[in-house]
Amino acid sequence: MSQSRRVLVVGGGGREHALAWKLARDGAEVLVAPGNAGTALVAENVAVAADDIPALVALARGRSVDLTVVGPEAPLVAGIVDAFTAAGLRIFGPTAAAAQLEGSKIFCKQILHRGDVPTAMYREFRSAAAARTYLESREEAPVVIKADGLAAGKGVFVCDDRAAAVAALATLASDPQFAAAAGGIRVEERLDGVEVSVMAITDGRTIVTLPALQDHKAAHDGDSGPNTGGMGAYCPTPFVDEALMAEIEARILVPTVHAMRRAKVPFHGVLYAGLMLTAQGPKVLEFNARFGDPECEALLVRLDSSLLELLDAATDRRLDSIAPPVWRDGASVTVVMAAEGYPGPVEKGRPIRGLDAAATIDGVTVFHAATRRDGEAVVTSGGRVLAVTAVAESLARAKLLAYTGVRPIRWPGGWCRKDIADKGLSREWELLAVEPATTGDGA
Ligand code: AMP
Ligand code: GLY
Repeated sequence: MSQSRRVLVVGGGGREHALAWKLARDGAEVLVAPGNAGTALVAENVAVAADDIPALVALARGRSVDLTVVGPEAPLVAGIVDAFTAAGLRIFGPTAAAAQLEGSKIFCKQILHRGDVPTAMYREFRSAAAARTYLESREEAPVVIKADGLAAGKGVFVCDDRAAAVAALATLASDPQFAAAAGGIRVEERLDGVEVSVMAITDGRTIVTLPALQDHKAAHDGDSGPNTGGMGAYCPTPFVDEALMAEIEARILVPTVHAMRRAKVPFHGVLYAGLMLTAQGPKVLEFNARFGDPECEALLVRLDSSLLELLDAATDRRLDSIAPPVWRDGASVTVVMAAEGYPGPVEKGRPIRGLDAAATIDGVTVFHAATRRDGEAVVTSGGRVLAVTAVAESLARAKLLAYTGVRPIRWPGGWCRKDIADKGLSREWELLAVEPATTGDGA
């Protein structure tokens, strides 16, 4: 009998539930730190926080874990990979220096520049007043105003004209919630087009590109309302065809991996490119150093081959020696169910009903993003609570199935966007809309 592998997943959200779910299907014995009520169904939860690096090292040692996979960016930026490697433990992810690609906007722009990777032009200013003087001295154009050092799209103002930009600068200068960030202001060229997410697994040399997805960052239907961590995703997105994917690899992913290596900060792990598909081609909005959430959930339900083998090969720097991953035909859709008030403050501890009914629907998997067990009940424990995911033979069917999964689930104040995947469905129609065949000779 072959002994099963022991894998530790660090984190406690929907992405980590999907990772644990898939690794368990691949035959691994999975530990999750700290996990949630959902990960407990497929793995063993261990009560260690995702940012307690010494305790995680001790856990991996004590339980003879032979591969650790890190979900969120915070422990990566804090050096979890460096600490594990120093302790002689195998871990999948970038070092703290390489995770700066996500953690530091300045480092990211340096790498983009070095690799000659297409991105938005920008200027940086020390004060709102200096940024305003600049805006008034140049020709009017749509811009994005960004306050430095704020996460999750807070302090990002996408502006149509100079008046809107000047108003955004006034908000940054006067609103106390931006006080800390108002000293570093970036005026960026506004990129217009469709936003997509492309992730690649890399060992620092070879890249394995994963199917493209589309996230839904705005809180409400029709991409309205405040920016969030992501309200839903679908995979693959018809906005990226084979030719465009080849261009994204050649102009963005490969040059970035090479630029990192030349800068002596080789990148290992998941390179996540947030892209705008502009009339001039794909351009980078941001890089992340990890799997996207909820992208990871929509992605992994379509992965038929072993994730464990892929992560093993990347960790051992032999990605060039393995067969490409096998993806299930059709499409997947993930709908995030959120607590009342999200992305602002939310009340926790609300009991969730209907999870069992949703779980019985063929093709539906309910990943838990912020839940915990309270006696017999599963209760909410954060803003993005569940990531209801469906896989089917078509995008239309996957959407229908995902919302069929949402339907029986209830808690006071729970809500979701109703239009996840609609942009992809419209695009499919657009691509199908062929000219009627001409008859006769036209005479
Ligand atoms: P960020 O926090 O920088 O990732 O920005 C949050 C969101 O703002 C992105 O997901 C985009 O939708 C939008 N955004 C950021 N930068 C730009 C840009 N240069 N042009 C257009 N939209 C942008
Ligand atoms: N869904 C976007 C992210 O994970 O950053």
